[in-house]
Amino acid sequence: MDIDLHDYIATTPDFPKKGIMFRDINPLIGNGPAYKQAIDQLINFASPLKPDIISGPEARGFVIGSPMAYEMGIGFVPARKYGKLPRKAVSSSYGLEYGHSELQMHVDAIKPGQRVFVVDDLLATGGTITATIDLIRQLGGIVVGCGFFIELEDLHGREKIMETENIPFIALLEY
Ligand code: PRP
Ligand code: ADE
Repeated sequence: MDIDLHDYIATTPDFPKKGIMFRDINPLIGNGPAYKQAIDQLINFASPLKPDIISGPEARGFVIGSPMAYEMGIGFVPARKYGKLPRKAVSSSYGLEYGHSELQMHVDAIKPGQRVFVVDDLLATGGTITATIDLIRQLGGIVVGCGFFIELEDLHGREKIMETENIPFIALLEY
C-alpha cells in the first residue's frame, strides 16, 4: 500500500518570516520508503516525456533531481545560486515568498534541442522554477515537463509556469 506522504511533511508557522507556513521536506527525505516512493512517482511521470536531462535549482531541487537522473540514466544540471559557478554562465533573477535571488547555469550545461524535465521540492510563487526554465531556454533547451513534491496552491505558481505555454505538470502534495 502507498505511504501517505503528507505524514512526512513538517509544518512550521512564521518561518523564516512572520506569516509564512514553512513546509519542510526533511522528514520525507529522511525516510527511505517515503523518499523512494516520492522519487519513483516523479520518475513515472517524467519517463514518458523522454527527457535527456533533469534540472533543478539549488539547494532542495538537487535532492529531488539527482536521484531521478541517476535512476533514469541521464544527466543532472543544477541551477546554482549566484556566484558559485567557475565558468561562463547565464543568469536569471527572481522574487521569492520571502526574498529574492538569482540563479545561474553554465553556458555549456545544456545543448540546443535537448529535452529537459525540471524539478524542485516545492512550488510557491513560481519564481524559482520560472528562473530555472528561463536559464534552460536561454541555452536552447526544451522544457518537456516539471515536477514537485509540494504545490502551495494559493500562491498560483502553476499559472506563472504556464504563462507562455502549457507544460506537463505534477505535484505529489497540495497545500
Ligand atoms: C525554496 C524551495 C523552492 C523555492 C520555492 O527554496 O526549495 O526552490 O523556495 O519558492 P518560489 O516558488 O516562490 O520561488 P529557497 O529559495 O528557500 O532555497 P533553498 O532550497 O536553498 O532552501
Ligand atoms: N519556499 C518558498 N515558500 C516555502 C514554504 N512555505 N515552505 C517551504 N519552502 C518554501
